[in-house]
Amino acid sequence: MSTTPASIIGTATPRIDGPLKTTGAAAYAADFHFERMAHAVPVVALIANGKIRKLDTSTAERMPGVLLVLHHDNIGPLYRTAPGDDNATNSEVRSAFEDEVIRHWGQHVAVVVAETLEMATAAAAAVHVEYDPQPANVRASLDDFKGKHKSVSERGDFDGAFSDAQVKIDATYITPIETHNPIELHASVAVWDGDHVTLYETTQGVVNHRVVMAQTLGLPVENVRVVSRFLGSGFGGKLFPWPHTAMNAVAARKLGRPVKLSLNRRMMFSSVGYRPRTEQRIKLGATKEGKLVALRHEYLNVTSQLDDFDEGCGEATPYLYSVANLEVASALVRRNVGAPMYMRGPGAVPGLYALEAGMNELADELKIDPLKLRLINDAEKDEDKKLPFSSRHFRECFEVGAKKFGWEKRTSSIGSMRRDGKLLGWGLAGASWVALRLPCTATVEFHSNDRVSVRCGTQDIGTGTYTIFAQVLHEKTGIPLDRIDVILGDSALPDGPMSGGSMVTGSVLNAIAAGADAATKRLVQLATATEGSAMHEAKAEDLVFTAGRIHKKDQVPADGVAFADLLHLARLNGLSAEGKTQPSWEDPKAKGFSLHSYGAQFVEVEWEPEIARLRVSRVVTVIDAGRIINPKAAANQVSGAVVMGVGMGLLEETVHDQRTGQPINGSMADYLMATCADSPDIDVTFLNYPDPAMGEYGARGVGEIGLAGVAAAITAAVYHATGVRVRELPVRIEHLLQSKILEA
Ligand code: MOS
Repeated sequence: MSTTPASIIGTATPRIDGPLKTTGAAAYAADFHFERMAHAVPVVALIANGKIRKLDTSTAERMPGVLLVLHHDNIGPLYRTAPGDDNATNSEVRSAFEDEVIRHWGQHVAVVVAETLEMATAAAAAVHVEYDPQPANVRASLDDFKGKHKSVSERGDFDGAFSDAQVKIDATYITPIETHNPIELHASVAVWDGDHVTLYETTQGVVNHRVVMAQTLGLPVENVRVVSRFLGSGFGGKLFPWPHTAMNAVAARKLGRPVKLSLNRRMMFSSVGYRPRTEQRIKLGATKEGKLVALRHEYLNVTSQLDDFDEGCGEATPYLYSVANLEVASALVRRNVGAPMYMRGPGAVPGLYALEAGMNELADELKIDPLKLRLINDAEKDEDKKLPFSSRHFRECFEVGAKKFGWEKRTSSIGSMRRDGKLLGWGLAGASWVALRLPCTATVEFHSNDRVSVRCGTQDIGTGTYTIFAQVLHEKTGIPLDRIDVILGDSALPDGPMSGGSMVTGSVLNAIAAGADAATKRLVQLATATEGSAMHEAKAEDLVFTAGRIHKKDQVPADGVAFADLLHLARLNGLSAEGKTQPSWEDPKAKGFSLHSYGAQFVEVEWEPEIARLRVSRVVTVIDAGRIINPKAAANQVSGAVVMGVGMGLLEETVHDQRTGQPINGSMADYLMATCADSPDIDVTFLNYPDPAMGEYGARGVGEIGLAGVAAAITAAVYHATGVRVRELPVRIEHLLQSKILEA
């Protein structure tokens, strides 16, 4: 493992926004209150397919405090984003308000606005909707698919190589619909001032949200401002705007009053996305020695009636292993369900579950240690893009993880390991996640009140973005964290990226560093140009900036001038400079490389056959994500992702009622997620190799990578303990009762 010089970069740093959150001072979207604010409550469809025959709002409109009832007949135009626009939203707005067609249960059909939340809730229940229902198809299984897959990636001759292969695996792996369940519900508060609107939102992308809402509402983009200072997470569900934002903004415009709308938990299961069900067929062909010769990964995912949402399960497949003959192909299956949306580690997480489960089965078939199988097939270069990797330490992830986990003590036969009256199962899997540097801008400013700030139109989804930005500013200026202000979560700030794809760190740090360098340079120039400054008429190249002071290179900082004193002397309130991040696909140091993070997951399960209790007891995760800026926040991200992996492996699944099309477990009580009690002992290790393609700090960013591979390692461990090969998530007691081992 590499070492980094002592600096705040790479030092565990408590969150600078922690006190705001623990004291309740951090304002989330629904915490915004305004004079004369009214409350909106949606009315949702109670069928999954058909048409609205009659929508009678007369009773609701006469109820106390009711101000407005909007539906497709009176909401007015809501515009679409153009096909192919980068910032296109999904089709839910169309689905909700362009016509009287119902395409899924829970689709918004009206919104009631009243003086209080209670009045609006009561009136929403009194909106009378009659439907002409059609049979709804919410069938979970996609095995009725009859079409053709479309090619995602191809090389060599898969068919020939597979048919000639000495050892083969051909298996289908299924992941269910999973629903994003951030603690903070989706909410929007709209405040109009003439034809300008401010939206207090919970969004993973203030800049994109602004562009899409301007388009949807028919406004120039400069008339819309989106504020999202704090998020109670999103997991991808808050990447793009959903219809409630639009209907709330229209209601506020029509009423000329601020309006707040917060979805409830049940609505979170039907109108703001989910990870689609996938059915993935993996074919692997190998030599007797374990060298892969053929790999085919074909998958289906469910989508809605209007969206062509491709989950991208084949994302990591073409580059993760060395294999000469490969095919990846995908297809969609429509159901009467809402629009799917990216959910933590989209594509790669369900995709790697299937690929890595297939690799584990191949290892068993070959009677080769699954770790060794990974090492035999490690890729030297990206065989898909035909590019070298910028920084890949996949092999070391396994080697370090094996040591930490004690992998060499594993005995390979089923049910052969026991501890404290329980059967043990040990499994592993590889992980990977894409890295990119997105273009963005940050402004760094030195202020006459002795503080320094950075401003960027990105947001902190809860992962520690505020803190790492302050760390970079401290690293650059030497100014202590308590005199640094990080200002995020406002579309009026310089354009910043979405909090998505674990890409904020790798992207924005470069802009902040460039902005800090440029602002410092301006300070130095100011020192030479300001009369009365001790540095007046010195040569800029003889000056340096240390810990907030400008001084001559041959002086100690104390002999120089403090930046705030210089600003006062020059009669400036502040001095700022902009920094930009060059996107990785334009940078000569990055564009000729394949940029990814890697990881290895080692899982131990405990199985008590006598009482059919399965528990993930221990996870060792080793992550190669470039340089780690804040090991405290990063480890927190990865261990959170591992807990989510336990949920993916054992618990999470959204189930639709076949008669009504309603998600029947659409509540925090009925949708099972891993809790503290389900959480294993988690050991997170970062390899910490700076990635030269990622810019000054070499950070690729973390979060989603921690979830990849966990479920495949769990199912391998389950097989090792019980002998039951589960290929459909989540692993259930019903699966495990097939075990032939009846006591530990
Ligand atoms: Mo993440 S699914 O990129 O918010």
